[in-house]
Amino acid sequence: GDPRVPRINAAIRIVPDFPKPGILFRDVTTLLLDHQAFKDSIDIFVERYKEQKIDVVAGIEARGFIFGPPVALAIGAKFVPMRKPRKLPGEVVSEEYTLEYGTDRIEMHVGAVQPGERALIIDDLIATGGTLRAAINLLERVGAQVVECACVIGLSDLKGQEKLGGRPLFILVECE
Ligand code: PRP
Ligand code: HPA
Repeated sequence: GDPRVPRINAAIRIVPDFPKPGILFRDVTTLLLDHQAFKDSIDIFVERYKEQKIDVVAGIEARGFIFGPPVALAIGAKFVPMRKPRKLPGEVVSEEYTLEYGTDRIEMHVGAVQPGERALIIDDLIATGGTLRAAINLLERVGAQVVECACVIGLSDLKGQEKLGGRPLFILVECE
């Protein structure tokens, strides 16, 4: 494996019982405090995608807004925020997804992504995969090609990858 990954892993704080009892919350804010580990996580993504002719990096609110923009700038792509409902002021396309209890929705500005563009989706973490699946659906609805989804953390026991319908997933740190 990549020798930089253990330091990234070590910099992620695990907070028990947040936001609810029984949840082991992976907190990336401590990764951001470790300059080398934060830089390494961005560098690994940049090395992987810089020659892939990515047109657009789509970042998912909220923590995809931390990791997405530095990657977009370094690989020469635009950045498009995929936001929670009613945050974007322009015309949006929106996609609902299922949570443990109930549903949520993410939205993207119409016209931000053009048909045929090559997209990379970035978020901090995949759990059930529902959020990434909704992001894939949004991008594909406007005619983009989703090249890959990239996350810092993958919670493997939640089988999130199966929800992505075969679209590739790249993760830095796998957690059981
Ligand atoms: C977390 C995380 C991902 C999503 C992953 O965000 O940052 O976006 O959940 O879960 P899934 O794979 O089961 O869909 P959260 O919903 O906590 O929103 P926030 O970033 O706005 O706090
Ligand atoms: N951290 C951040 N987001 C999450 C987590 C977590 O551990 N689990 C589900 N969404």
